[in-house]
Amino acid sequence: MKRTFLITGASKGIGRALSERLARDGHNVVGLARSSGDTTFPGTLVSVDLTDREGTQAVLSDLDARFEFDGVVNNVGFVQLSPLGSIDLDGLDRAMRDNLAPAVQTVQTLLPGMRKRGWGRIVNLSSLVVLGVAQRSTYAAAKAAMISLTRTWALEL
Ligand SMILES: NC(=O)c1ccc[n+]([C@@H]2O[C@H](COP(=O)([O-])OP(=O)(O)OC[C@H]3O[C@@H](n4cnc5c(N)ncnc54)[C@H](OP(=O)(O)O)[C@@H]3O)[C@@H](O)[C@H]2O)c1
Repeated sequence: MKRTFLITGASKGIGRALSERLARDGHNVVGLARSSGDTTFPGTLVSVDLTDREGTQAVLSDLDARFEFDGVVNNVGFVQLSPLGSIDLDGLDRAMRDNLAPAVQTVQTLLPGMRKRGWGRIVNLSSLVVLGVAQRSTYAAAKAAMISLTRTWALEL
């Protein structure tokens, strides 16, 4: 069955590989990234800065009206290195906000449609840094929170 998936951070790296894999398996892919001019992207690539809440919500609402999404891969992630002793509190806020808000926004926007159609999948990317890697305090905290979101949503859904 052909499904439609949204992938954040889809233009390169893991997001791009997932996009190509899903497209190869016959699915529709809508990718989000700041850059959008890549004509080789295996689907629809939409430009948005996922750290811009209002801009992101406008794009998500528009896409939700144009596509019937069956799933979302919350792939985008932001790393900021800082050893203990140099952790900037604004950087901590930014790490939590930038890593978590886009995932909450995609899911809350797409969930009503997936519920209505009676089928949906949410895939969240975390990282092994949650087990502890030097200089990754803020990134690891955000990625650990991503696991908490995933477990909570699994229970709620
Ligand atoms: N790579 C690893 O070894 C590794 C290990 C564990 C977990 N992870 C996790 O896996 C995920 C993907 O990592 P990756 O290494 O594949 O990333 P990547 O190669 O750095 O790719 C990042 C993607 O996100 C997009 N992006 C970056 N900033 C953005 C923004 N502000 N708004 C919209 N899109 C933005 C980039 O496109 P543009 O530049 O065009 O915006 C690109 O498509 C992340 O959550 C990461 O934490 C990665």
